[in-house]
Amino acid sequence: MAFKRILLKLSGEALAGDKGFGIEPPVLDRLASEIAEVHNTGMEIGLVIGGGNLFRGVAASAHGMDRVSADYMGMLATVMNALAVQDALERVGVMTRVMSAISMNEICEPFITRRAKRHLEKHRLVVFACGTGNPYFTTDTAAALRAKEIGADVILKATKVDGVYDKDPVKSTDAVMYDSITFIEALKQQLHVMDATAISLCMEEEIPIRVFNLTVPGNIPRVAAGEEIGTLVTN
Ligand code: GTP
Repeated sequence: MAFKRILLKLSGEALAGDKGFGIEPPVLDRLASEIAEVHNTGMEIGLVIGGGNLFRGVAASAHGMDRVSADYMGMLATVMNALAVQDALERVGVMTRVMSAISMNEICEPFITRRAKRHLEKHRLVVFACGTGNPYFTTDTAAALRAKEIGADVILKATKVDGVYDKDPVKSTDAVMYDSITFIEALKQQLHVMDATAISLCMEEEIPIRVFNLTVPGNIPRVAAGEEIGTLVTN
């Protein structure tokens, strides 16, 4: 195995498919079967999921909503996604625990680092909901934080593009993709790999990030097997 324990970061939009909103059951099922393939190799998987397919806190605050309220609504959206992912994973035989940064004991377990690690050791996939539990922090930062807390070997960040480019590949046809880049360069060039807080944490704690395209079928098992697709961000 290329890694013993991984932190997989999925954006909320990953669940939405082409519509860009909500949860598309066929998309969810494809993701679940790819994640199950990785899980069945014996790899331990922590999963952080965003909520942008249901609610975008930053966008709402740009329209005048209080940022703190908007961010909490975004965190609640991640819980819905986490439950959807848990349901899809358990349908394909992957035992899953959802742990939330904000206590909502009737819905899921509270996040406790030692307990999360215990679940992973027992080969349960753990979905981390509610980001870091704080407004102003993104789910990318939550991915960096949880990766460190559970001792993940790598963050596998699933996106809608092939990797990290020198400019936005959706807007510029001449954008060039990096095979690898350092954290410092990603920060300096403001490359939007992840937000600066998340990158800084990964840089200090030396957690490599591999950014890859989730819309290509089979990519999740490929990156988890250590294939060098997408862009590697390291020190
Ligand atoms: P072990 O103690 O290692 O056996 O872990 P476990 O998760 O199997 O045991 P536990 O008895 O803690 O949990 C049994 C089930 O209840 C699991 O599906 C948990 O996700 C769920 N569960 C545990 N704690 C909570 C909680 O605080 N809230 C909710 N909603 N579910 C919980």
